[in-house]
Amino acid sequence: MTSSGTNRSGPAGPGPSDGAPWAAAWELLLPAASAPARARGRTLQAALREAVRTGRLAPGTRLPSSRELAADLGVSRGLVTEAYEQLTAEGYLRSDRGAGTWVGDAVRAAGPRARDLAPRSSGTRADFVPGTPDLSLFPRAAWAAAHRGVLAELPHHALGYPDPRGLPRLRTALAELLARRRGVVADPERIVVVSGVAQAMALLGLVLHARGLRTVGVEDPGSPEHGALYASAGIGTVPLPLDDEGLAVGPLKASGVRAVVTTPAHQFPTGIACSARRRTELLDWARSVDGLVIEDDYDGDFRYDRAPVGALQGLDPGHVAYTGSVSKSLAPGLRLGWLLVPASLREEVVERKRTMDLGNPVLDQALLARFLERGDYDRQLRRCQRAYRERRDALVTALAAYFPGAKVSGVAAGLHAIAALPERYGPLDRFLERTRAAGVAVRPLAQYGTAVEDGLRLVLGYAHLSPARIRDGVALMADAVRD
Ligand SMILES: Cc1ncc(COP(=O)(O)O)c(C=O)c1O
Repeated sequence: MTSSGTNRSGPAGPGPSDGAPWAAAWELLLPAASAPARARGRTLQAALREAVRTGRLAPGTRLPSSRELAADLGVSRGLVTEAYEQLTAEGYLRSDRGAGTWVGDAVRAAGPRARDLAPRSSGTRADFVPGTPDLSLFPRAAWAAAHRGVLAELPHHALGYPDPRGLPRLRTALAELLARRRGVVADPERIVVVSGVAQAMALLGLVLHARGLRTVGVEDPGSPEHGALYASAGIGTVPLPLDDEGLAVGPLKASGVRAVVTTPAHQFPTGIACSARRRTELLDWARSVDGLVIEDDYDGDFRYDRAPVGALQGLDPGHVAYTGSVSKSLAPGLRLGWLLVPASLREEVVERKRTMDLGNPVLDQALLARFLERGDYDRQLRRCQRAYRERRDALVTALAAYFPGAKVSGVAAGLHAIAALPERYGPLDRFLERTRAAGVAVRPLAQYGTAVEDGLRLVLGYAHLSPARIRDGVALMADAVRD
């Protein structure tokens, strides 16, 4: 939505609004926006009232301007103004002429903590499971506008079966984006639009299998998805250890594999950025065995306080297959991504893509192309970057406050962090048992691989949580494990 930064207290407000983020409550208003025209105003008011009453909109939360909310919901501004006025009259909202509208203090059913950590669906009160961005940051208004624009401009013939590589317009826009932001050598002719990194891996698996490969190397610890995707193509995985500089090359050489999957910009899950020396070593290895490095740039766009680490592919496009998607920057549900392959693999990959699904949906591709061309995608990245940096900081601060002595790593980039907690909070089994009982969902690092040292190390996803939820979630975790 367009109303960024609306979750803050008013000038006369009761301190920062720690409650549920405005964006979450906004979802409640969406059905009202599509109610029949005659009932729309009433339905919108009822939904807004309900959001305040149930605490999904916390006291002190600043609402977006009537113009912003009307644009986001696709309703007239008058309808929103009327709803704000009515609810102000009823005491649910308070407004400060010209300065904004806030959720009033009159309806305070529960304390901020209870509301903040209200069980979601299955009794989870704080959810630190990594892998999901903040879906409420999805730019609905801009996406809807792009949708209208695309439908208006696409000629009839464009709705036929697409080029299995993807629309030329999208491939051109992606080539520009990836060259500019990630240092990828991006010839549009070599890009294949896919439905996410997952499909890129599945396609490569099928092509490599057809070429006789039966194993690929994967990082250990690493993404469980990688192994599962290659297994579906009939390829086994060889877990390979990491060191401080990234994927360890000695064990890679010794393994005998000729293809390896790696996450060099921000290793999943440890967050290690592959060093310059290790990049060179990896590419030397690939050349020496005439092999392939499969680069998963799953969250390459999010960097906070270090210079962007360019893609490995830029150093040797002949030995690296590069893949990424909009799953972290827009939403995983879009199922849209890209794969750049060395020239020697291109035809086989395109043919696999064709036989697999005859290409990605045309409208989605045209939409993303337009989004990229008009700068909407860059705007979205900047917006997410700001939000996620703030959340990352909130997590680091909360861990320092509630778990003194915790060592946090992997936080210069990405959407999750690794927290190594002092031994006194352990052992791990007891820690997990207690946090689970308290409704805190956390993943131990050990769950991501076999080569993880003992100890209390957690992978904490933070991007999908507001700073207030992060702080309260860490506090809840600390309460749960206190003796
Ligand atoms: C490291 C890593 N790469 C790739 C993926 C899949 O990404 P996509 O949604 O682009 O298919 C995941 C999904 O969780 C992941 O953890």
